[in-house]
Amino acid sequence: MLWLAQASAILAIRLAQVGAVATPFPNSTSPNNPSNSTSPSALNEATSPPYYPSPWMDGSGQWAEAYAKAQAFVKQLTLLEKVNLTTGVGWEGEACVGNVGSIPRLGFRSLCMQDSPLGVRDTDYNSAFPAGGTVAASWDRSVWYQRGYEMGKEHRGKGVDVQLGPVVGPLGRSPEGGRNWEGFSPDPVLSGIAVSETVRGIQDAGVIACTKHYILNEQEHFRQPSTVDGIGAVDGISSNIDDKTLHELYLWPFADAVRAGTGSIMCSYNQVNNSYSCQNSYLMNYLLKGELGFQGFVMSDWSAQHSGVSSALAGLDMTMPGDTGFNTGLSFWGTNLTIAVLNGTVPEWRIDDMATRIMAAYYLVGRDKAQVPINFNSWSLDTYGYQHAYAQTDYGLINQHVDVRYEHAMSIRSAAARSTVLLKNTNNALPLSGKEKFTAVFGEDADNNIYGPNGCSDRGCDNGTLAMGWGSGTANFPYLVTPLTAIQNEVLQYGGVIQHETDNWASQQILALAQQATVSIVFVNSDSGEGYIIVDGNEGDRNNLTLWRNGDTLIQNVSANCNNTIVVIHSTGPVLVDAWYNNPNVTAILWAGLPGEQSGNSIADVLYGRVNPGAKLPFTMGASRTDYGTDIIYEPNNGNAAPQDNFVEGVFIDYRSFDKNNITPIYEFGFGLSYTTFSYSNINIIKATPGPYTPTTGTTKAAPVLGSFSNDTTEYQFPPNLTYVATYIYPYINSTNLSTASEEPDYGLPADKYIPAGATDGSPQPRIAAGGGPGGNPELWDVMFTVKATITNTGNIPGEEVVQMYVSLGGPDDPKVVLRGFDRLSIQAGHSAEFSADITRRDLSNWETTTQNWVISSYPKKVYVGSSSRKLPLSADLDL
Ligand SMILES: *[C@@H]1O[C@H](CO)[C@@H](O)[C@H](O)[C@H]1NC(C)=O
Ligand SMILES: *[C@@H]1O[C@H](CO)[C@@H](O)[C@H](O)[C@H]1NC(C)=O
Ligand SMILES: *[C@@H]1O[C@H](CO)[C@@H](O)[C@H](O)[C@H]1NC(C)=O
Ligand SMILES: *[C@@H]1O[C@H](CO)[C@@H](O)[C@H](O)[C@H]1NC(C)=O
Ligand SMILES: *[C@@H]1O[C@H](CO)[C@@H](O)[C@H](O)[C@H]1NC(C)=O
Ligand SMILES: *[C@@H]1O[C@H](CO)[C@@H](O)[C@H](O)[C@H]1NC(C)=O
Ligand SMILES: *[C@@H]1O[C@H](CO)[C@@H](O)[C@H](O)[C@H]1NC(C)=O
Ligand SMILES: *[C@@H]1O[C@H](CO)[C@@H](O)[C@H](O)[C@H]1NC(C)=O
Ligand SMILES: *[C@@H]1O[C@H](CO)[C@@H](O)[C@H](O)[C@H]1NC(C)=O
Ligand SMILES: *[C@@H]1O[C@H](CO)[C@@H](O)[C@H](O)[C@H]1NC(C)=O
Repeated sequence: MLWLAQASAILAIRLAQVGAVATPFPNSTSPNNPSNSTSPSALNEATSPPYYPSPWMDGSGQWAEAYAKAQAFVKQLTLLEKVNLTTGVGWEGEACVGNVGSIPRLGFRSLCMQDSPLGVRDTDYNSAFPAGGTVAASWDRSVWYQRGYEMGKEHRGKGVDVQLGPVVGPLGRSPEGGRNWEGFSPDPVLSGIAVSETVRGIQDAGVIACTKHYILNEQEHFRQPSTVDGIGAVDGISSNIDDKTLHELYLWPFADAVRAGTGSIMCSYNQVNNSYSCQNSYLMNYLLKGELGFQGFVMSDWSAQHSGVSSALAGLDMTMPGDTGFNTGLSFWGTNLTIAVLNGTVPEWRIDDMATRIMAAYYLVGRDKAQVPINFNSWSLDTYGYQHAYAQTDYGLINQHVDVRYEHAMSIRSAAARSTVLLKNTNNALPLSGKEKFTAVFGEDADNNIYGPNGCSDRGCDNGTLAMGWGSGTANFPYLVTPLTAIQNEVLQYGGVIQHETDNWASQQILALAQQATVSIVFVNSDSGEGYIIVDGNEGDRNNLTLWRNGDTLIQNVSANCNNTIVVIHSTGPVLVDAWYNNPNVTAILWAGLPGEQSGNSIADVLYGRVNPGAKLPFTMGASRTDYGTDIIYEPNNGNAAPQDNFVEGVFIDYRSFDKNNITPIYEFGFGLSYTTFSYSNINIIKATPGPYTPTTGTTKAAPVLGSFSNDTTEYQFPPNLTYVATYIYPYINSTNLSTASEEPDYGLPADKYIPAGATDGSPQPRIAAGGGPGGNPELWDVMFTVKATITNTGNIPGEEVVQMYVSLGGPDDPKVVLRGFDRLSIQAGHSAEFSADITRRDLSNWETTTQNWVISSYPKKVYVGSSSRKLPLSADLDL
């Protein structure tokens, strides 16, 4: 959220716009031929082609009714009122982390945008849900939907209109990525299904979901313009990518979110092919609103907007928090957007489309019926305080402490337990019998943070048990049940002995206690977060993949002295376990992710067998950092120009990279054990007969213009009776001379110098072949095959198995296998269940850059069914 080197960045960016060149995205890096096409030079300094005009909403898919209502509303609005809908009032200007202006004339209050993807941030009496990257491990659609619904309900109860989540960018290209845990998984299909269910859940609760961060926001270092010692001002990093990788990997889950009806999408801080995401017309106009048919609104990340007219024409619909930098009192929009419409550089249809998209999202989720007054204030937990925190005005009741937790603790506990992955279990070391004579608990990660669960702002420290990463993707804990408390409760119930050592460096005491124990349970962690907070030298992204706070030594000290050592890992992603996982004294290993408020109860449910683990790793755990083949850029690599991050590995991240390079991971993607066992048999392929794939053709309607506006500049002046709030962003102008009012140094630069060709054209436009409905061409979801298999519980207790379906697309540039479906089946001991999953046209297609469409190649295709990405006992040819 820091904003540095702002003035120089703005100028540079505006000039960069002037010289935009129409070069396409690189076609492909073709990773199978590293000798030529993967050379970094293929992507270095890549450019992003212009695409204009910005597609206007057409009400397709599930949006027809919301579109009609939105148009009817927007038709009543004046230009100033439309501008108010699009522009934030400025940082800390209102109660929420972001608010736009209001429309008092119609009794329409300011819309409230609030973090985070795991609960309501910056308030009290809210729940702290497990993180996205943790519930991904449940592979359970109902867990995702329920969590989304409950988070939505909590936001709704606080008066929030837009929940700033879920996250599928970062996808998790590099395991070190600081915010990976806010999203789901580096696999696009797992992420895509998780994001769809979450969006549906949030929106069914009557709150607009904001799927973020669009796109390729894969690291924290240099995500924004910054000042680097010895170098000076550096532009934000450019994630350089080819068209095929973008479609087949990073864009995939966004397409699912759009198909699920996400009301809003947040554009990211970083540049993509050297154009900032929030003014990148190819990303917003062509891909998102064109090809994917996105009907909702694009909101900027906080201070990710770098231009006024350019960002409007490139497809941005709402600027957050509204000011050019925190509390400058100036805006690229607000006053400037009013002026830009008046001077004709932003056509009326474009601002009408912005307002319509915002209001359509509002009606789509039923905000007109669900809205309650905003009853908290992000900037203070006090009951009384300033309504406008930055301006320190309007003192009064700001926090009603509304308890919105309902009975969510139960599903939070259950979701975290269902997301806990059993990685090792020698001779049924787990579940514990509940008769252990002497239980020893080790590790700072088992216990309370001495400062309390919310003692470090935005969870910006690694003290005590880790149940959330750090940054804006957090919420305050109402309480945090520690593992030590929960295990102690358990042991006291059956009358055992329990002792603990939670100083990770107290080797003498650790040795003495481990020697006495019947069972030792060691808690360790590894943390990461958002780049504006540095914890132990980690600027958001992790500096390494090893355990924090002496964790490896702790495990080694315990396991050297106790032959029944159980390790529980709380982490934001993969950690290196090579040093100890094979030690015979380490009898069990659990990955518990970031479980949220019920952490201790959830892990106790698994340890004592009330929950039979069924979760599977949503990422690969490799033996070393270099095994992943991708990493973060920690140092500027392009002088004082934007660092260049070339995604040369193409679609080969996580398991696809390990498979391609024949690297054996410690625990592969999709791996996880149960207290029972399962067998796989009887694969059966049923071929469907969908019609042929028809590229979308024809043209759109002309851009609708809703209402009219006067060119009389006296009508847009600040109202004389306005109670001006300091640094607040308004839609008004303070002079009848537009140039004076804009305060822009080079106001009136001839339009042909910076308005891209076609950008103001509201006439009918050609439709995009791969488009046709929200998410893309609807025929991409035609079912081509249904795959069935029999799964048998061969053990003695009921259990749940995540059955996974992978496909080999067969081409020389394709991964060995890619996940395409899964289901979590609950099966009684000795019984069987039928697995069934569809394979769609999209599932079998590659992105073809020449036709700009999805195409099923002629390479032979195969389907695999099994228990992980590397345990695939069943397979069959797919006869096309
Ligand atoms: C790229 O390399 C492959 C061999 O790895 C070769 O067959 C192909 O002709 C090369 N393509 C170009 C354009 O140089
Ligand atoms: C714009 O929003 C501000 C802040 O809510 C409000 O004070 C103002 O009256 C609104 N202006 C119009 C024209 O509705
Ligand atoms: C209008 O935008 C320009 C940048 O394009 C900025 O310098 C100026 O301060 C803005 N004006 C107002 C009134 O916010
Ligand atoms: C207002 O100004 C715009 C831009 O110069 C122009 O296109 C439009 O025709 C004008 N409208 C009226 C009613 O004068
Ligand atoms: C809290 O954690 C930080 C690292 O995040 C560490 O430097 C500090 O010593 C810890 N403090 C306590 C009291 O544990
Ligand atoms: C990895 O980073 C953590 C957290 O900063 C630190 O505690 C640990 O010592 C580092 N590991 C290595 C091997 O440097
Ligand atoms: C395993 O634990 C026993 C104590 O129970 C110890 O004697 C032995 O050295 C340990 N083995 C390893 C490999 O640490
Ligand atoms: C573990 O150590 C205990 C004594 O502390 C011993 O009774 C038991 O047999 C050992 N188990 C194994 C598998 O070595
Ligand atoms: C129109 O207004 C915008 C916003 O203030 C400004 O950036 C631009 O230079 C103006 N263009 C013309 C042609 O007056
Ligand atoms: C990408 O493919 C198109 C169509 O075949 C071709 O015209 C273009 O030159 C290619 N671009 C690059 C950068 O290879």
